Amino acid sequence: MNIAVFCSGSGTNLQAIIDAEKRGHIKAVIKIVVSDVPDCYALIRAKKAGIKILLVEKGNFKSKDEFDRYILDNLKNEKIDLIVLAGYMRLLTGAFINEYKNKILNIHPALLPSFKGTHGIRDAFSYGVKVTGPTVHFVTEDMDAGPIVLQAPIMVREDDTESTLGEAIHAEEHKVYPRAIQLFIEGRLKIEGRKVKII
Ligand code: GRF
Repeated sequence: MNIAVFCSGSGTNLQAIIDAEKRGHIKAVIKIVVSDVPDCYALIRAKKAGIKILLVEKGNFKSKDEFDRYILDNLKNEKIDLIVLAGYMRLLTGAFINEYKNKILNIHPALLPSFKGTHGIRDAFSYGVKVTGPTVHFVTEDMDAGPIVLQAPIMVREDDTESTLGEAIHAEEHKVYPRAIQLFIEGRLKIEGRKVKII
């Protein structure tokens, strides 16, 4: 199975996925890393691991459709079976999502459906929740709303700051995302409406 990982930032999840592949915990090939941010650290990680890079800069395309079409053409060339969003900060078009229906995973740093959006960690922390943690879900057209694959609850400690909580959440992300990806690879995720059955 061939995987594409999409990133816009530091790429710590990408690194966890690369490491999991190396250890044989993910039985697939990361064929390509797609990014919309030329100087993001995720691209350096991809280069170090010898993975092909596709840089897509918004300004070089006339429309969002053209942008997505270009990515899709590249994914087809690489025979990509699964797309893994790992801190990719752009929304995919409906047409794009349809082409890879039920084959796109995302990780969100809060327990969905709470605290959707860009600041899941900060929003949960400021709200005063006692439990939070990452959610891996399938991507649908509604942002952060697709069927949930796995969640990793963690307790908020009395002395946590937004930053220490963020570290704890990221550490969990690096375990739960490779696990969810491997479940997909093994064909063990069965979507039934809103629910994902692990078979
Ligand atoms: C993660 O917190 C993930 O939940 C969110 O974006 C962040 C990406 O971090 N979608 P990194 O680039 O993998 O370090």
